Amino acid sequence: MIIAIDGPAASGKGTIAKRLAAHYGLRHLDSGLLYRGVAKAVIEGGRDPADRDAAVAAARAFEPGRYPASALKGDDVAKAASQVAAIPQVREALIAFQRSFARTRPGAVIDGRDIGTVIAPDADVKIFVTATPEERARRRLLELQGRGEAADEAAVLADILARDARDTGRAVAPLRQAPDAHLLDTTHLAIDPAVRAAIDIVEAVRAGRKPA
Ligand code: C5P
Repeated sequence: MIIAIDGPAASGKGTIAKRLAAHYGLRHLDSGLLYRGVAKAVIEGGRDPADRDAAVAAARAFEPGRYPASALKGDDVAKAASQVAAIPQVREALIAFQRSFARTRPGAVIDGRDIGTVIAPDADVKIFVTATPEERARRRLLELQGRGEAADEAAVLADILARDARDTGRAVAPLRQAPDAHLLDTTHLAIDPAVRAAIDIVEAVRAGRKPA
């Protein structure tokens, strides 16, 4: 089984994907880490993430696992990731790895922005996870505060809106809900009920029912 989870930053898609993978015994791939890894390599090489040649070279040389996830979590890397992710040749260089991950037994849950539309258009189940920008900014702020980082709510919201705009507005593989994806709005859901709702969607699709 392949489950595609797409959605904007801080929608809850990563946690939902991880928990679905554990629930169904599938492998999990956070595809955002691939773009973050490319961005980190460009920055480490002293180049600008908007530098197309540097970004494409880093994507073609990309090795999964080169950086631990903890080294890729920062907002600077997130911003740079959304810049390199808008370059078509960067996306192209990362497709084969993601498709081969999806095809490997026993199946996978992959989360990102274009999984249901580009990477795995034939996924068994597609879920588009969303929440209002204000709620996503609130979650992000709590996360930053939890890590002891100083953060300003208005600045976090502005960052989220800028990243949304870049991700939905780019020409190649923009963030959008696939026509056959099921919408899961987590604005008013804590993580446990959100995961439950995602499992209900998977179960309904597997049983040939229309999810509630
Ligand atoms: O999901 P995450 O916030 O880690 O992703 C970082 C950035 O990588 C996103 O803002 C987006 O620009 C890019 N990305 C993408 N396609 C994916 C996953 C992430 O363009 N499938």
